Amino acid sequence: MRVLFSCRFWWAFVVVFVVLVAGFFWLTRTPFVDVAQPSMAEMETLAAQGEYLYDAAGCASCHTRDEDDAPELGGGLPLETSFGVFYVPNITPDPEAGIGAWTAAQFVQALRHGRDPDGRAYYPSFPYTSYASMDERDMLRIYAWIMQRVQPADTPSRDHELVWYLRGSLPARAWQFLFFNPTQTRDDSQDERWNRGSYLANAIVHCRECHTPRNSLGVPMDGMHLAGWEEGPEGETTPNITPDEETGIGGWSERDLKRFLRFGMEPDGDIVGSGMGEVIDHLKHLTDDDRAALVHYLRNIPAVRREADGDRAEEP
Ligand code: HEC
Ligand code: HEC
Repeated sequence: MRVLFSCRFWWAFVVVFVVLVAGFFWLTRTPFVDVAQPSMAEMETLAAQGEYLYDAAGCASCHTRDEDDAPELGGGLPLETSFGVFYVPNITPDPEAGIGAWTAAQFVQALRHGRDPDGRAYYPSFPYTSYASMDERDMLRIYAWIMQRVQPADTPSRDHELVWYLRGSLPARAWQFLFFNPTQTRDDSQDERWNRGSYLANAIVHCRECHTPRNSLGVPMDGMHLAGWEEGPEGETTPNITPDEETGIGGWSERDLKRFLRFGMEPDGDIVGSGMGEVIDHLKHLTDDDRAALVHYLRNIPAVRREADGDRAEEP
């Protein structure tokens, strides 16, 4: 410090520091979301279309506790990660304990930008990084369904218990600044069926949240889309589901995959359990067209040769 203050231009350092801090806050300010509040009649229409997406998106698999009498979306599910425990909040329409007081714009802001109504950044344990590429209309359908069809529950949300360096509002904000691009558009680069499959896999069912390996900063690894991950949900290894013949599911026929995504039955007759069993519970509600689109997509993504039990990553 003495060296700094004995320097004639110490004030220049102060100015640079203030400019950097102000610049960070300006660059990471809460984005403006321009979404009109649907009328009562519109809410009814949207809600009627919302259940399908709500089921496919699996909101309840995290926001509802795994107990018989647990209130739907009443929250409280602990997500144990290497960064600590995240307690999934109550998102029922209860105005105090849940999100009952939220406008449609605030809901879209949470899903698209990962920000709460006060601008606080969410941690990426909430898969908004996937939901961000959902169509706004689909977000509104889910919003209307939750607001109109879910019973308000007053179970309070719990604070997360995280490692010290992730506490407070700054770390998630910095993470978003570095690694999250809310304007990322969908991959609509191929035929219509593939595009629909890509939308379902990436924006709605978020397969990659569990099947794509991440680096130590929690960022999905480049060129490893759906190539399996040793640290999947609850520390479980998720398999490689790219079309690679040896390490992925390249050997599965179209029928194998359809049957798997409908009934959870693997080609050898085993019924899948663990985290995937729950996903199947959601996927079995998909229409035949949507399931076919998902299968078409999975069979036509780049094959990655990677055994998800070590770091033996290798391009085919
Ligand atoms: C993998 C688990 C998981 C899934 C699936 C999930 N969420 Fe969440 N959600 C979280 C976690 C964890 C948080 C808390 C994030 C934080 O505090 O930074 C959260 C927070 C939220 C919040 C903010 C609540 C508040 O009080 O600020 C909303 C809204 C929300 N989720 C809606 C949804 C919707 C809608 C879906 C389905 C489309 C969904 N979530 C699916 C884990 C999940
Ligand atoms: C919540 C985490 C999670 C999500 C989300 C998820 N999976 Fe899985 N998946 C798993 C786990 C864990 C397994 C391993 C299950 C086992 O072996 O018991 C698995 C297994 C599979 C398998 C079997 C592969 C094999 O070699 O046996 C396929 C296929 C699959 N998932 C496809 C998908 C698709 C497609 C999606 C998105 C539509 C998806 N998964 C989303 C966790 C997930």
